[in-house]
Amino acid sequence: ATSLKEAYADKFYMGAALNLNQIWEKDEAAVAVVLQQFNSIVAENCMKSMHVQPEEGRFYFRDADKFVEFGERNNMHIVGHTLVWHSQAPNWFFVDASGKDVSREVLIERMRNHIHTVVSRYKGRVHGWDVVNEAILDNGDYRNSKFYQIIGEDFIPLAFKFAQEADPDAELYYNDYSTAVPTKRAGIVRMVKKLQEAGVKIDGIGMQEHHGLYHPDVAEVEKTIVEFAALGTKVMVTEMDISVLPHGRANVGAEISDTTAYDEKLNPYTEGLPAKKMEELGNRYKAFFELYLKHQDKISRVTLWGVGDGDSWKNDWPIQGRTDYPLLFDREYQPKPFLQDLIDLA
Ligand code: XIL
Repeated sequence: ATSLKEAYADKFYMGAALNLNQIWEKDEAAVAVVLQQFNSIVAENCMKSMHVQPEEGRFYFRDADKFVEFGERNNMHIVGHTLVWHSQAPNWFFVDASGKDVSREVLIERMRNHIHTVVSRYKGRVHGWDVVNEAILDNGDYRNSKFYQIIGEDFIPLAFKFAQEADPDAELYYNDYSTAVPTKRAGIVRMVKKLQEAGVKIDGIGMQEHHGLYHPDVAEVEKTIVEFAALGTKVMVTEMDISVLPHGRANVGAEISDTTAYDEKLNPYTEGLPAKKMEELGNRYKAFFELYLKHQDKISRVTLWGVGDGDSWKNDWPIQGRTDYPLLFDREYQPKPFLQDLIDLA
């Protein structure tokens, strides 16, 4: 095979997150790679609530429309990201005119209106939605977000119910990071079981898979795939990247407490990634793709969180202004030396 999408065609979708330059086709080199390599897309930012409904009742759909048109024109599996998330949500969502938290009823109604408006606009066109994003903490408890504080854990089943009402045929997903942390994995399993027992339609669980070179262990990710699949839902890799830079748990021996200060040690590859590191990155990607292939009966999609290294959020998170190399294509949209190995694995 000569491309990822061709190689993995009978196994799972190969996806990429698109930024605005790609959605609006301003970045020809990036778009060429997307069309050549991927058969699924997700919007990196433009469907988040702060972009789609920056003020109450004022919806902005131009970017999201373009994104969906791009996917349709190219016969892609289109994923909507994300309906209910504590981050990149506009502040008005949670407060009244005087700045005080709204009541449970008001927040539920705002959530209902947001989800109905967004999902019904793309009914039958967006194939799956990340309905709820990042609601569980590493220790397995619910995140104390505004949604949780004001509504309680019911915000989760309610969000799924509203999405189902708006498009009964769309797949509905729960999506989260660090799903290989055992206590978090258990918390997600508990939550999904509760949803299922309550008769809530949930079709899949997304593992974001923002990895580092040394963490998490592939074996822990495997346990997560197996346990999530045992719930009877699809399992998908939704936001994959592998940072080569130190980041707390993601890289041994480099705990960062002050995320604003950095020195050369925290940004060591401004002149390019040394060959040895590139090899390490390739081996790490291969280990994960081997795992996904081993569980191809459980995994429905593998999506990379971006196309070229220059686009990646990892250059700015958790520390701004670094040079990271987390994706499969370099800053010129040339394939990394190990791309063909990933293609040949399939
Ligand atoms: C990130 C985007 O990549 C950045 O451009 C943006 O500034 C912040 O959000 N988990 C998610 C994604 O579910 O939506 C996040 O995307 C990365 C972490």
